[in-house]
Amino acid sequence: MVVKLEPVGTEEYARDVLPDTFELWGDGRSYERYVEDFLAIASSVYGKRRPFTIGLREGGALVSSCKNYDRELRWDDLSLRATGIGAVFTPKPLRGHGFAAAMLGALLDAERDAGRDLAFLYSDIHPVYYERLGFFTAPSRLFTLRADALDGSPSGARPLEASDWAGVRRCFEALDRARAWSFRRTPLVWDWMRRAWNAPLPAGSQPVRLAVKRGRSLIAYAIGRRVLRDDTFVVDDFAYDGDDGRAIVPALLRAGAGDLRRVGGWLPPEPARDAFGRGSVRARKNGILMFAPLSPLGRAWWRENEAAIRGGRADATWSADHV
Ligand SMILES: CC(C)(COP(=O)(O)OP(=O)(O)OC[C@H]1O[C@@H](n2cnc3c(N)ncnc32)[C@H](O)[C@@H]1OP(=O)(O)O)[C@@H](O)C(=O)NCCC(=O)NCCS
Repeated sequence: MVVKLEPVGTEEYARDVLPDTFELWGDGRSYERYVEDFLAIASSVYGKRRPFTIGLREGGALVSSCKNYDRELRWDDLSLRATGIGAVFTPKPLRGHGFAAAMLGALLDAERDAGRDLAFLYSDIHPVYYERLGFFTAPSRLFTLRADALDGSPSGARPLEASDWAGVRRCFEALDRARAWSFRRTPLVWDWMRRAWNAPLPAGSQPVRLAVKRGRSLIAYAIGRRVLRDDTFVVDDFAYDGDDGRAIVPALLRAGAGDLRRVGGWLPPEPARDAFGRGSVRARKNGILMFAPLSPLGRAWWRENEAAIRGGRADATWSADHV
């Protein structure tokens, strides 16, 4: 079989794929919101840099599809070109014929030929499926802790204002410099993340965007959602700058929780993971991080970091990295 990967137009994808994937990935949103969120990213500068949705056709019909986007991975002073894969989907009647495997194989070949160093994805199915295609699984966990176990002193947190975003970025970068490698948050990536965080939330969730300043400098921030049904402040992103910033994190997360009982979310990478109390940690069933090195540089990165990633007490990426 000659496998040909093709871009799938935004309209075609919205018309032919989204109705089938809504049940899986709607995540409490209305169908209209699900489509709107897809169109927002697909038509953003970030989504338009390359065909954002691609697929495999047979006899003109789309038999498998996925999303595909670029990220840069910083490793010390090196930059690696990473290709992100998401929303791998084959319509039910067509499953089990090898369409998704053929699409992913062709995509990895094309990305390797285009000079990309590694591929990554966040799997919602048993990772063995992607391991057969050459991906490695990285620990992927959730944390939960009792809000009243966190420092209850006043944090001085204030709602994040539009003018605070430059400070948020500086704060994240200060923390990120302590890491040997990470996905780089370029201005385009920040735009995309802000857009995702600013989108209206499903009923029963309230947005939380808090910042702590010392003088005019932002020293810590936390972004997430209060999910009332789960009695939990779900933390999507936070960072701190300096010892003062780090010391305020527990009180900041407690302020984010308000009167909810729990704080939780994806286990953040080191060193952020150590900025709050221990709580309980368990494996995630969704969003399991996987990597496939593609180039000699990608393989060198994996060889040198594999033990720390696999054996680490923290996850390797932030939940905000999951597009
Ligand atoms: C996963 C999926 C894309 C596979 O598509 P496909 O075209 O049938 O894939 P292939 O023919 O290449 O592979 C079929 C294999 O997928 C495996 N598979 C399907 N669902 C799986 C799951 N939840 N966990 C692990 N493997 C799974 C099957 O076991 C099958 O293996 P087998 O043929 O040895 O029994 C398809 O089942 C699908 O669209 N599922 C719903 C969307 C989804 O969850 N996507 C994954 C997002 S990370």
